[in-house]
Amino acid sequence: MANRNGNKDQVDQWKSTMFLYSSALKSINTKIEILNNEFIQLYNYNPIEHVTSRLKTPQSIVKKLKSKGREVDIENMVEHVNDIAGIRIICSFMSDIYPIADMIAKQADITVLYVKDYIKNPKANGYKSYHMVVTIPVYLSDGKIETKVEIQIRTIAMDFWASLEHKIAYKFEGHAPDYIEAELKDCADMVHMLDAKMYSLNQAITEYSDERTDNTEET
Ligand code: GTP
Ligand code: MG
Repeated sequence: MANRNGNKDQVDQWKSTMFLYSSALKSINTKIEILNNEFIQLYNYNPIEHVTSRLKTPQSIVKKLKSKGREVDIENMVEHVNDIAGIRIICSFMSDIYPIADMIAKQADITVLYVKDYIKNPKANGYKSYHMVVTIPVYLSDGKIETKVEIQIRTIAMDFWASLEHKIAYKFEGHAPDYIEAELKDCADMVHMLDAKMYSLNQAITEYSDERTDNTEET
């Protein structure tokens, strides 16, 4: 009986913990939507292509705790698994990434715990993305609880690459044949070139339409 009650307590604790993470995701999603809408209103420009979010599955949480050599319990999961709540923001251009990260970090109720900037320092395999682990308060009837969310910000092209790399890493359990890893790295370089070209093309288009507006105003 005691054991049964113990299990019930654990189930309740699990449910209320996951409720916190899903609430934190909702709050951050709303913040991002508001920022994007404000941009559309002010500049007629939306820096964000799309946003996805997910809660980590129990299996992945257990796997991550084990890989970190931690005992599987809720306390360890809250302390050591930083991506239970995860959001991915996909932008069109490289130039959108840092302003979006800044706007999120500047919000009064968001605390940035740490940043991993794989754009300035890409991983050896070619992975590029900007990662922030933040906390956001979730307001409950008896107070607020700071809850961790991992935010990844990258371009469409970087995201395209990352999803293929993820598939390959999964298929070969992290040990893909050398030639596949080399081809992937080539693709990462091409992605970088594409991002750079798309950025400068977009700059050129913006400058061109600004000039046209100026000329029209003069006549
Ligand atoms: P934990 O994953 O929490 O152990 O920390 P970490 O130090 O590995 O964090 P990091 O910021 O490096 O990675 C966090 C997330 O970024 C991962 O869970 C993936 O979603 C993504 N990620 C990191 N590296 C790669 C990569 O090489 N390829 C792909 N496709 N995704 C990656
Ligand atoms: Mg990881």
